[in-house]
Amino acid sequence: MSPPSVEPHLFVIVGATGDLTKRKLLPALYEMITRQGIGERCRILGVATSQLDDDTFRTQACQALQAAGFSQDDLGSWCDRSLHYQSARDGYEAVADRIQALEDEYGLPGNRVIYLALRPQIFASTIESLGKAGLNQSPGWTRLVIEKPFGRDLDSARDLNDIVHAHFAEAQIYRIDHYLGKETVQNLLVFRFANALFENSWNRDRVKHVQITVSEDEGIGTRARYYEESGALRDMVQNHLTQVFTLIAMEPPVSFEAQAIRDEKVKTLRSITKIDPNAVVFGRYTAGEMDGEQVRGYHEEEGVAADSTTETFVALRLDVDNWRWQGIPFYLRTGKRLPRRLTQIVVTFREPPVYFFADSGSSQVHSNMLVITLQPDEGFRLFFDVKAPEDPLRLETRPFHFSYREAFGELPGAYETLIFDVLTGDQTLFVRGDEVEESWRLFTPLLDGGLEIHPYEAGTWGPEAADQLALRNGDSWAVP
Ligand code: BG6
Repeated sequence: MSPPSVEPHLFVIVGATGDLTKRKLLPALYEMITRQGIGERCRILGVATSQLDDDTFRTQACQALQAAGFSQDDLGSWCDRSLHYQSARDGYEAVADRIQALEDEYGLPGNRVIYLALRPQIFASTIESLGKAGLNQSPGWTRLVIEKPFGRDLDSARDLNDIVHAHFAEAQIYRIDHYLGKETVQNLLVFRFANALFENSWNRDRVKHVQITVSEDEGIGTRARYYEESGALRDMVQNHLTQVFTLIAMEPPVSFEAQAIRDEKVKTLRSITKIDPNAVVFGRYTAGEMDGEQVRGYHEEEGVAADSTTETFVALRLDVDNWRWQGIPFYLRTGKRLPRRLTQIVVTFREPPVYFFADSGSSQVHSNMLVITLQPDEGFRLFFDVKAPEDPLRLETRPFHFSYREAFGELPGAYETLIFDVLTGDQTLFVRGDEVEESWRLFTPLLDGGLEIHPYEAGTWGPEAADQLALRNGDSWAVP
């Protein structure tokens, strides 16, 4: 089967002078259009509030691409050829006129992507302006891409869904969670549903617990304005960790199509029982040492209020009340300024029901563990016990090992994958409206500020209370 082809289109980036455009979108588009030869008849229109002309925008975009590591001789001519700019200050009717003019000039058939790379506070008003200017439809297709976060809680996510649905059909809407674009995250579906070996053990009879860790060594950098309004629960748990969780816990879909997969993900979210606040630990980093260097605490970061109540760490337990998972804890954990960058899933299997090696005085049997590393060092390891070749009988735990990079080399970036899917109209890796609401339904009750925030030193694996959370059931974190 040949891959779907990209039709000629206009790619409109609203928020074209922002950080996301410079760091992620332009590099992904440049890479796709020039190196992979995708959509050569693609033109890009940047829209933002600054009053810029085309040339100034092109110069800025070129600098951003250079900063992202591109140094090709034709960079300047690509920018001149592909990029255009229209200020949003002149109103969205003027944006609509410019779009029409570009489509006429380049003979484009009216296929449009409108990518909202904006502050979440202005998603709603921008979507309304797009609708009023008639930009929700076109002679070809129109697809609206909305960056995360989609809402701040259940009510605001519902309100935002209402506004989007007033102007766009769900089939036009692509809610981005860039974790779903990571090759290794997508592979979770193949790993589970193309390999009968694991699926038979993927349930409460065989699994003891599942852990998902997304740790980051970085602090909040220059993003205090965003992060102060967000915190780790909104920034990471409600979206990225929840997406990884659903792919691990969902039932097999009836087909590999977008609706079928998303239906199963929603069903899984609905099966999660109300989260017990006692099974949630919030933390915030204090000053500490990382890689031999002293780093600031969250309260000392630039732009952070001295009395800020924002959390930079969350650990929690999810319980899934369905036939497959009833009684099996899923531990989720994420934080900034942890010892290293790591996204990992650890599935710990039950011990053998009978332990007959004890009589021979051998050491204890260990649970089999499947460790799936989503980044960095993408791959998996399956740990099992073997007999060490000596007397007396002694057991040792050893891994089977698979490395993505050893097998396939460099992996494509998440934004390239997701933009390609938008361009070819595949919604599988995007979050549906009801899915985003289900996820907020789970986490909104934890947002009322009632939870204590435990301090942890930068460079450690979070507050001790998080260890207690896992230990309460006799389990412990597999990482470190
Ligand atoms: C973003 C969050 O969505 O994901 C950031 O806003 C976080 O706070 C980032 O650092 C992590 O993404 P990745 O792909 O580097 O793991």
